Amino acid sequence: MLKSGALHRGSKLVIASHNEGKLYEFGALLAPFGIDCISAGSLGLPEPEETGGTFEANALLKARGAAEASGIMALGDDSGIEIEALDNKPGIHSARWGGPTRDFRLAMDRLHTELEASGSPCRRANFISVLALVAPDKQEAVFTGKVFGEVTWPPRGENGFGYDPIFVPEGHNETFGEMDPDFKNDMSHRMRAFEQLIDATYANDA
Ligand code: IMP
Repeated sequence: MLKSGALHRGSKLVIASHNEGKLYEFGALLAPFGIDCISAGSLGLPEPEETGGTFEANALLKARGAAEASGIMALGDDSGIEIEALDNKPGIHSARWGGPTRDFRLAMDRLHTELEASGSPCRRANFISVLALVAPDKQEAVFTGKVFGEVTWPPRGENGFGYDPIFVPEGHNETFGEMDPDFKNDMSHRMRAFEQLIDATYANDA
């Protein structure tokens, strides 16, 4: 189990993701802590297949792969959207619903079609982010964050990525796709998991 001080100002951290949207969000989250982020892509690390059956298993397999290949502490994540009326689908398959080209217009259309076919009036949904921090000595820790809200149709907004244009967080009228990206970052599932990670593993004076 990783402890307080595992991360500190000047720590190097490999972000085990090839998703530009996520790299941007993690970069913004980590910048104030003085952590030196390196993307898996810039180290030439391959993108592992998400073969796990849970968000946690997938986050861990990405971070373990990157930590082992680089010899540097690695942050892996898995995330997605869960739709209550669809028994939490697409869940761990959120990225895959975009097909090989990760076309999220396609994924949002499928989500909308399945929701209409379900006959349910319930539009409750949540994004979930699971973060796994893995050290080269194999110590590790896992953190989960969620943001609840509703899905809306048609999609609205050009900001963000993935399912952002159809997700309206609780207490707001704008979709994540319409919000200022910094505003979204402040309340996102990733931020919520990230705050736990910082609380548990970051020490200013280590
Ligand atoms: P993965 O974590 O790389 O497997 O990808 C998860 C997928 O969930 C992404 O490709 C997006 O489609 C979706 N997703 C995760 N987080 C967000 C978010 O903050 N906004 C919109 N879509 C998201």
